[in-house]
Amino acid sequence: LGVFTYDPGFMSTASCNSGITYIDGDAGILLYRGYPIEQLAEHADFIEVCHLLYYGELPDAAQKESFDTIIRTHTMVHDQINNFFRGFRRDAHPMAVMVGVVGALSAFYQDSANVGDPRHREISAHRLIAKVPTIAAMSYKYNMGQPFAYPRNRLSYAANFLHMMFSTPCEEYEPNPVLVKALDRILILHADHEQNASTSTVRLAGSSGANPFACVAAGIASLWGPAHGGANEAVLKMLEEIEDVSNIPKFIARAKDKSNPFRLMGFGHRVYKNFDPRARLMRQTCHEVLNELGIYDDRLFKIALELERIALEDEYFIEKKLYPNVDFYSGIILRAMNIPTNMFTAIFAIARTIGWISQWDEMITDPEQKIGRPRQLYRGAAQRELVPLSKR
Ligand code: CMC
Repeated sequence: LGVFTYDPGFMSTASCNSGITYIDGDAGILLYRGYPIEQLAEHADFIEVCHLLYYGELPDAAQKESFDTIIRTHTMVHDQINNFFRGFRRDAHPMAVMVGVVGALSAFYQDSANVGDPRHREISAHRLIAKVPTIAAMSYKYNMGQPFAYPRNRLSYAANFLHMMFSTPCEEYEPNPVLVKALDRILILHADHEQNASTSTVRLAGSSGANPFACVAAGIASLWGPAHGGANEAVLKMLEEIEDVSNIPKFIARAKDKSNPFRLMGFGHRVYKNFDPRARLMRQTCHEVLNELGIYDDRLFKIALELERIALEDEYFIEKKLYPNVDFYSGIILRAMNIPTNMFTAIFAIARTIGWISQWDEMITDPEQKIGRPRQLYRGAAQRELVPLSKR
């Protein structure tokens, strides 16, 4: 039993070498390829961040134009994907649809199986960055019973997504620049976060040589859980459940009660123990969006702001270093944009696709890469003799 190190949740096991994202949880530092997240959020857009994460460097103007054009040319999905959608129940959760449809891209792009060929890896990466927003928006339209809105390639990445979500044959969506910028920031802040559960899932799936579409579908499945990407959706559900500011103390008491499994959604982080630098930026964007839309009076927003205030002053949360995380604010912003709650995690998946594919590519090209194969401490029955069914 003592041969292997027992490390549930991989709390102290480094599973790979990586040069993509650096986090110092105590100091609240997050760097993509060496650049502080604050500077990227302020001075770069999501397309530049995608270039940075995948290729290792920020693009110059010509490189950005060329990369942006490539991504724009891949935004449509094969028409047969429309048939695939029809197989889903109309009320299917968008994440359920995304797990299936993104995985199915490997049936359309069979060259993706050549994971040893850099050109095939690169085109798969471009296809994923471009098509995941289209698939996410299609899953929403399918839910709503509306016709799919085809991508508008003259629009920016974030504006195009809002167009695919909200344009109808009757009316073209007019992107609001403040909301487009806020969505672009949400995408930047969620783009990568080193070896989190979904990224580790992508790497583990890919370590066997599986194609990138299948691996990213596995990442989407892992992201869906409420302890990971599902938290932004869970935050909104919790705010609905709280119902009124006067009920907040009851919920705080439940979160502190050891015999109650309830947790305050959107609080705490495995790595950040002082503050989450993404949450600070998200909080600022949250206020910009609420100001732009003039909706500070909204009941759920009031509950969120009061919950934040009370929890930040509460001894239990201070002692356990539980601060609002990025998902606490992103859910509020998305709701203000009229994005339905069940699309929140799908938007996280759009953002994280670039992180997953960059980490997958890094893993494939790592000369020390091995198939992932954790060991276990066996606690089951000792060897025993089978008794035939007639004698049991
Ligand atoms: N509300 C109340 N108590 C909490 C919370 C919370 N949100 N989070 C942690 N605790 C307590 C927990 O009960 C434990 O107490 P004790 O030491 O007395 O047993 C202590 O704090 C440490 O918790 P843990 O579960 O050992 O910490 P972890 O690092 O394994 O978990 C976490 C991190 C994010 C899963 C957890 O804080 C949590 O469940 N938060 C709510 C869900 C959430 O917001 N998730 C989004 C994370 S950010 C987005 C992402 O990266 O995907």
